[in-house]
Amino acid sequence: MPELSQRILAWYQENARVLPWRGHPDSYAVWVSEIMLQQTRVETVIPYFERWMRQFPSITALAEAPEQAILSAWEGLGYYSRARNLHKAASVVAAEFGGQLPQEISLLRKLPGIGRYTAAAIASIAFNQDVATIDGNLRRVFARVFDVSLPADMPEGEKMLWDLAEKHVPAGRAGDYNQALMDLGAAICLPRNPLCLLCPLSEMCQARALGLQEQRPVLKPKAAVPHKLKLAAVIVRDETVLLIQRPAKGLLGGLWEFPSAEASADSAEALVAVIETEYRLKVSPVAPLTEVRHAYTHFTLTESAWRCDLVEKTENESFQWIAFAELGNFPMGKVDRQIARVISS
Ligand code: ADE
Repeated sequence: MPELSQRILAWYQENARVLPWRGHPDSYAVWVSEIMLQQTRVETVIPYFERWMRQFPSITALAEAPEQAILSAWEGLGYYSRARNLHKAASVVAAEFGGQLPQEISLLRKLPGIGRYTAAAIASIAFNQDVATIDGNLRRVFARVFDVSLPADMPEGEKMLWDLAEKHVPAGRAGDYNQALMDLGAAICLPRNPLCLLCPLSEMCQARALGLQEQRPVLKPKAAVPHKLKLAAVIVRDETVLLIQRPAKGLLGGLWEFPSAEASADSAEALVAVIETEYRLKVSPVAPLTEVRHAYTHFTLTESAWRCDLVEKTENESFQWIAFAELGNFPMGKVDRQIARVISS
């Protein structure tokens, strides 16, 4: 067995985190956990995972659940296409594979939401196949141990990191190997101030020997993140409020929100104009209500919500008057949920 694998497996034996999906032998639980863990920290995922497995205990149960229930169970985790893809993939698995996740990587990769990383993670952890995987944590570990100076987010650097991960897979132990490296990346090989003194790989770490550990991985320069201002109309009538459901595809797809649109200034006049253009909805602003800030991956947002009266409403099936007490049953993104809390408090 390669020295790296020996060291990392020995470390894992003593230091593996106790995580709820690790106690679940079934591949559905591993799949759900891997999807939730994409772009999301372990501590955030744990309560969502536990609730999810109680609410949708099998692939068939998930396939049969309504999309609103699925989006509500996901609310707060972000990147909602993950939830919609899990739902779609569950329907495929129920219809074509008798409700059992297929074991073959090529079949896994055909399911919505399962890419190279997730297919390999599932195959190694749930089905004990000898395959490596690379996520953000593993990328950092391998870029440091082997002092990879090619950008890790460009094809050449990516290929080198996958090759290194594959070269060191210990036969019959790939699931532990992959998860050990994930835990090492999360606890020891930190992006800044890595805890090299505690690291089982420090003696073989080439970047550390050169004092370059903080400069690895090399990433291509990030484009500046733009800032957007949106104005939202909170239109209240008899303890109900007007919400609109977003289109199924795209950012926050299928979630509910207050009518809102981008504007260049936060004023009553701008609000009237942008809401009319966006929805053919005529409103009369009463007073500013609250301002919410949020950072998305590709932009940051300030959303200013105004209490408004309705002057005239066009017919649109996506609009719905919702009682304050029912707001919790409609899945929303973080910004709209914060506005909903202000009006129902
Ligand atoms: N991050 C992604 N998948 C993980 C797993 N199985 N264990 C720990 N961290 C992870």
